[in-house]
Amino acid sequence: MLFEILTLFPSMLEAPLSESVLGKARESGIIEVRTRNIRDFAEGRHRVCDDAPYGGGAGMVMKPEPLVSAIEESRARTSREAHVILLTPQGRLLDQRLVEKLAAESHIVLVCGRYEGVDERVREFVDSEVSVGDYVVSGGEPAAWILVDAVSRLIPGVLGNDSSAEADSFSQGLLEHPHYTRPPDFRGRKIPEDLLSGDHARIAKWRRKQALIRTKQRRRDLLDRLELTDEDQRLLEEAEEELARNEEAS
Ligand code: ADE
Repeated sequence: MLFEILTLFPSMLEAPLSESVLGKARESGIIEVRTRNIRDFAEGRHRVCDDAPYGGGAGMVMKPEPLVSAIEESRARTSREAHVILLTPQGRLLDQRLVEKLAAESHIVLVCGRYEGVDERVREFVDSEVSVGDYVVSGGEPAAWILVDAVSRLIPGVLGNDSSAEADSFSQGLLEHPHYTRPPDFRGRKIPEDLLSGDHARIAKWRRKQALIRTKQRRRDLLDRLELTDEDQRLLEEAEEELARNEEAS
């Protein structure tokens, strides 16, 4: 997978894309990440990339020419078909379903906007628009990092163990179950008995039950979208009874 990031601030992305999981994936060649400075595509001595908005008002708007030249160069660079994404709070919300779809691409170009936005005419030169959440960050760079990270996790070989992405929150439409490690007693708080049982089926059942109840309590919207099996319904009822009992006891 090749990710190309078009940005005015390549150094903002250097460390986040070079450390930990992404750094290792790049070193081993499973993913390739290139940043391109949009300013290199701007004309004139000052290589100006932004200008005042028509109609007046505060802030600057990114000019179309450097952005579109950068996009066109990226599209022409490889024989693979590029999927060009504009990062903007007005785009489609990034969720695990979209992440899975993007993981099937082979060349993703991310266009990072800055200032008040990009000239509207740039939209015609991209394939889709993506937002990482209903809030505004100062530019597309943090959003690009999030997208590259989330998509890379799904590429075989990026995570040490191929099954670990499957257990992630959202991958089956549920939040993940809780995790525990040593010590067995932390300030009086113990490990759930099922996890100490050594019985794989019992542990799997406990994890499924916890994922279900956690999702119901925290993200009812996710649970409502799922078709639960009879076994899931039963586990959920059990979990609710256990909670009620614990509440009564305390
Ligand atoms: N640029 C600014 N805010 C953004 C967001 N929420 N998603 C993607 N790009 C952005």
